[in-house]
Amino acid sequence: AEKIILDCDPGHDDAVAILLAVANPNIDLLGVTTVGGNAALEKCTYNARACLQQYGATDVPVHAGCDRPLVHPLEVADYVHGETGLDGAELPVPTRPLDKGHAVNWIIDTIMNNEPGTITLVPTGPLTNIAMAMRMEPRIVERVKQVVLMGGGYHTGNWSAVAEFNVKTDPEAAHIVFAEKGWKVTMIGLDLTHQALCTPAVQGRIDEIGTPTAKFVSELMDFFRKSYQDAEEFTDPPVHDPCTVAYLIDPSVITTRRAPVEVELRGDLTVGMTVADLRGLEPSPEECNTQVAVKLDFDKFWNLVIDAVKRIG
Ligand code: BDR
Ligand code: CA
Repeated sequence: AEKIILDCDPGHDDAVAILLAVANPNIDLLGVTTVGGNAALEKCTYNARACLQQYGATDVPVHAGCDRPLVHPLEVADYVHGETGLDGAELPVPTRPLDKGHAVNWIIDTIMNNEPGTITLVPTGPLTNIAMAMRMEPRIVERVKQVVLMGGGYHTGNWSAVAEFNVKTDPEAAHIVFAEKGWKVTMIGLDLTHQALCTPAVQGRIDEIGTPTAKFVSELMDFFRKSYQDAEEFTDPPVHDPCTVAYLIDPSVITTRRAPVEVELRGDLTVGMTVADLRGLEPSPEECNTQVAVKLDFDKFWNLVIDAVKRIG
């Protein structure tokens, strides 16, 4: 099983990423860390704990991390995720107390105390904790197996015309992560996640399962659908974050291509844009440490999510 650390800001789609990470036997979820993003840190942290409670995974530790981006103030996404960050479903009260210690310290200790090359970082929120960990303990870079993150996009944005929420929220942190040549980064951006739509047919299959967790996920999707409809962005909600975990479970779910990616930090219109050079020039594909996700196998993806709901029981 792939050992992962899920660094997130739940968030409706983060909640599905946690589900997939908990339920799928090919994933060994070492811990969940939280960051301020979709909602304030305290809310995201509570939501992460509540999700784990819902999925019966109280053995998974949760550590709270940075409450704001490195440079900019936090601008939450309450118009997408509601006041709590996870509006629409009733959250169970977590029985496991919040784990002690800052997420950044826990990430560093976990990576340094495991065999090199065994842990994959899966960030599905702003990259603040990851950038902080890299600066506090640079040796984590060579010890991490790879980074598979949800963020960015090479053709479109959602928080501005060209920037995606996670990258736009903390562009400096994203810059640190993408500019690091010592590790392999896979960008699962909007180009990919806008293919992961929770259609009525998909949701019907979730509803049919009929368990409390199926109901929980379906209620989250109802709220998420309404947010995207209200914003006149999509009829069905794109369920971004679990695409990262699905890729780790079965890489054939996502087609990728290597391309250099840089994060724009200045510009009147383009701050937080992930600029991917798709021309195939320098560096040569073999030497390029970044790759971008291009095409989703829709059926395989949703089959994994539905299988995860069933496995929770
Ligand atoms: C990303 O932003 C958040 O609102 C979602 O949870 C996802 O991680 C999509 O742009
Ligand atoms: Ca997220």
